[in-house]
Amino acid sequence: MADGLARDRATTTTTQALSAHGGSLLNLYLAPAQVEAKVRALTGLPALVLTPRQACDLELLLNGAFSPLTGFLKQADYQRVLSELRLADGTLWSIPITLDVSEAFAAKLQIGGELVLTDVEGAPNAVLNIEELYRPDRALEAQQVFGSSDLAHPGVRSLLDSQPVYVGGSVQGLRAPRHFDFNTLRLSPRELRERLAQAGHARVVAFQTRNPLHRAHKELTERAAKQSEAHLLLHPVVGLTKPGDVDHFTRVRCYQALLPHYAAGTVTLALLNLAMRMAGPREALWHAIIRKNFGATAFIVGRDHAGPGNNSQGQPFYSPYAAQELTLAHAEELGIAILPFSEVVYAANRNAYLSREQLVPGDEVRDISGTELRRLLHAGEELPT
Ligand code: ADX
Repeated sequence: MADGLARDRATTTTTQALSAHGGSLLNLYLAPAQVEAKVRALTGLPALVLTPRQACDLELLLNGAFSPLTGFLKQADYQRVLSELRLADGTLWSIPITLDVSEAFAAKLQIGGELVLTDVEGAPNAVLNIEELYRPDRALEAQQVFGSSDLAHPGVRSLLDSQPVYVGGSVQGLRAPRHFDFNTLRLSPRELRERLAQAGHARVVAFQTRNPLHRAHKELTERAAKQSEAHLLLHPVVGLTKPGDVDHFTRVRCYQALLPHYAAGTVTLALLNLAMRMAGPREALWHAIIRKNFGATAFIVGRDHAGPGNNSQGQPFYSPYAAQELTLAHAEELGIAILPFSEVVYAANRNAYLSREQLVPGDEVRDISGTELRRLLHAGEELPT
């Protein structure tokens, strides 16, 4: 098993902390010397083939992107995350990271035992110490996390379609989940921190996205970098995004094509294998914590961050600036600066990109929504310059 072992190597078992900028970073992979013995001892243990969402969550737990989490949430952490956006020990955390299984599968599990977590091909990625089994009230979880039980919300739908029993417990990584595309851009928190540190970037502003970038995005990111005198980290999500989004193969090529249009040396592109929940304000807080773990010192929150679109009544689920309000309210505790941006639009008469508040009467506003951009791309139509 020499190949494919954890890329992030610890010298002891769990919780090796790296404290560069960004605070302490966990590494939940076993040391290489311990992996082979652990793998030999897996025979006979129950094994779970992870769903795509669970596989994304596991990857980010193991590589420390979800620091300070050490595994899938136990009930006390879960409940406090729902009610107060905090783990049981008081640490800020806004999205429940849980492992759902069926009743039939749960019947095979014993508290105190171990559960092997595998990829779709059955290769073991990690072992979970089964500390708790509990049955969540998923309708209540939907209300608390998403503020809604409307199935038009992709996060609500996926939650209500999930399995009824949660397995809580710490995880030990055996080998990093494998990917077959863009591997040089899939940087772990440790690798990205090292790269940024080597390049001497003391201040780094991160930009989250799940869309192909258009001119307003580019303008916004350049302004953010200038305003915070920071290096720009383009950190798009390539795990799960909103159903109907442009696939990540296409998007990554868009980001790569855009890079030469920024001033040389001002931008780093790295990919994040996150499973988004489209939870708006709570999701923005989670995104900020994750980017801090990757070594960013500031995080951009624009209009309708991680918004799921409209509900079944045709109304937006969240107000466009709710994500800014929630992240700014916790800015000090987050340990990463929040850079709020209001909507950026194009004023055709001035040939300029402006924030809404910079507009004056008579400005001819041109604006393009993500939905319209995707429609034009799918239809093969020309994008407006
Ligand atoms: S998201 O689901 O990842 O938030 P998207 O990729 O569209 O979707 O947005 C990425 C970031 O850019 C978010 O912070 C979002 O609020 C911001 N954003 C997108 N478009 C605009 C815009 N026209 N004006 C201001 N902020 C924007």
